[in-house]
Amino acid sequence: MTVEPKMSLREELAAIAAEARAQIERAADLKALKSVEVEFLGRKGGKITNTLRGLGQLPAEERPAVGKLVNEVRDELEAVLKTKEGALREAERQEKLRTERVDVTLPGVAFDSGHLHPVTRTLREIKQIFIGLGFEVVDGPEVETEYYNFEGLNIPADHAARDMWDSFYLGGDLLLRSHTSPVQVRVMEKQQPPVRVIVPGKCFRRDAVDATHHFQFHQVEGLLVDEGISFAHLKGLLGEFARQMFGKQRKSRFVPEYFPFTEPSAGMMIDCFACEGSGCRICKQSGWIEILGSGMVHPAVLENVGYDTQKYTGLAFGMGVERIAMLRHGIDDIRLFYENDLRFLRQF
Ligand code: DAH
Repeated sequence: MTVEPKMSLREELAAIAAEARAQIERAADLKALKSVEVEFLGRKGGKITNTLRGLGQLPAEERPAVGKLVNEVRDELEAVLKTKEGALREAERQEKLRTERVDVTLPGVAFDSGHLHPVTRTLREIKQIFIGLGFEVVDGPEVETEYYNFEGLNIPADHAARDMWDSFYLGGDLLLRSHTSPVQVRVMEKQQPPVRVIVPGKCFRRDAVDATHHFQFHQVEGLLVDEGISFAHLKGLLGEFARQMFGKQRKSRFVPEYFPFTEPSAGMMIDCFACEGSGCRICKQSGWIEILGSGMVHPAVLENVGYDTQKYTGLAFGMGVERIAMLRHGIDDIRLFYENDLRFLRQF
């Protein structure tokens, strides 16, 4: 049996320190380093801390020197630990950078960006043209009284022309307006001529839905009342609109029509955009397409709002926004506007 020579405290300390250094050196990560720290420098049971207990057995004169030595060893080990910790942290950071590397030159993920609906865009274009021609944009209620939707516009209750606007009644004398024309009456009731307004807005009709009809759609109404307004102004104004909207090569013509609130009434036609007038499916082989209804404001309408019909005359027109958009883009079914099918909408 070999008897280990009993080590002096100094030797013991040196051996512990050497082992600690070696373990610190070997620590592969921060967790391992932490346990080395606890093993040697831990307040309770740390190997270095424990050596202080041995101090008591030393001769009194040796104690200060050895105590100092213990402190020095502890300080040194703490410094070595700190350096190692810094190195491990840096290594972890490098590893993270390596594994989480992003290639900033890769193309990004494209987000779907929306755009305005073709009906909205067409509406804005129509407004812009008339604003440029000096018109003011006003609006009116979508729920109307029978008076504004009909009587005020010279369409009495028993008049056959009411069939032209099959309406949604809400009870009493309220209905969803079947056209934007009632706003003519509302505007004129509130002001004296000159009146120069357009009225964009939603309209509702009890129409069976098909390729060219929908129960809800948009119109733009126009009204100009002043002294000396004639049919020549009507033709000039709407001809200019058609050229700005459909291109300056578009020809236009006016054909007789009937509306109770205008006299005379006229349908405005443009030559077919699809076949340039030679005849096709879209213009029903006629070469012409009706784009709006118009006429000279009926004196009865002016009288309804108390205007002096000896002094003032007016012109009015109304167009379907969906219809204009369909013509503009060659769309052959109005239902496409409301189905929210992105394959359709993305084309505009
Ligand atoms: N309100 C008519 C409709 O809905 C359109 C219209 C025609 C309006 C002639 C007018 C006009 O102002 O003069 O069918």
